[in-house]
Amino acid sequence: MNGMFITFEGPDGSGKTTQVGHLADYCRSKGFHVVQTREPGGTLISEKIRELILDISTPEMDDVTEALLYAAARAQHVSQVIRPALERGDIVVCDRFVDSSIAYQGHARGLGDGVAEINAFAVQGLEPDLTFYLKLDPGIGLMRIRKQSSFDRLEKEAIEFHRKVTDGYNVLLGQHADRYQVIDATLSEEIIAREIRRNFDRWLAAKKSV
Ligand code: TYD
Repeated sequence: MNGMFITFEGPDGSGKTTQVGHLADYCRSKGFHVVQTREPGGTLISEKIRELILDISTPEMDDVTEALLYAAARAQHVSQVIRPALERGDIVVCDRFVDSSIAYQGHARGLGDGVAEINAFAVQGLEPDLTFYLKLDPGIGLMRIRKQSSFDRLEKEAIEFHRKVTDGYNVLLGQHADRYQVIDATLSEEIIAREIRRNFDRWLAAKKSV
């Protein structure tokens, strides 16, 4: 595949979605074809699954069901959108991917290694080339989103849950140091965007020189 697959990860309230938009715009300004997308979501089927997963009226959802639904949404997203875009040579900028499932379902829900296994099956071996991790204390993240008028089922989880998500990401950072770039998400939106652009340019230059 000729394209580049870039993902954003981080706790709720870390500002990923805004930064995904900034990086996608930057890549377009450099002349690349860009597909900007998100998880869970990115296709009609995956957005329907998203509604089901995040619906606060179903607190009884079993943790394994939740993990399988994220993986199912992802399987559709990869086959319908991400893989074809990468085969065309596009840049795909995606808000969350498999690492979110490993941090949230694997670590915070405590489901363990099975989560990586079902996701390996769902994405048929696809891995991001580059991942930006927006690092933020989960307490600050929650304070930011609590200003919103409504919360989804995952956002409603207690701070202990979100601390476990961060622990999960710390394990992933150690395991995938080659593709992770850590960004301080306490900085202003514009400084974070600049930092991401700089890191992206450096990464691209290093990639071209090999
Ligand atoms: P997201 O759309 O990133 O929420 P927001 O933009 O409000 O931060 O993700 C929705 C929620 O789903 C978020 O709490 C993280 C969670 N999530 C998982 O638990 N596992 C996953 O695999 C993914 C993709 C998201």
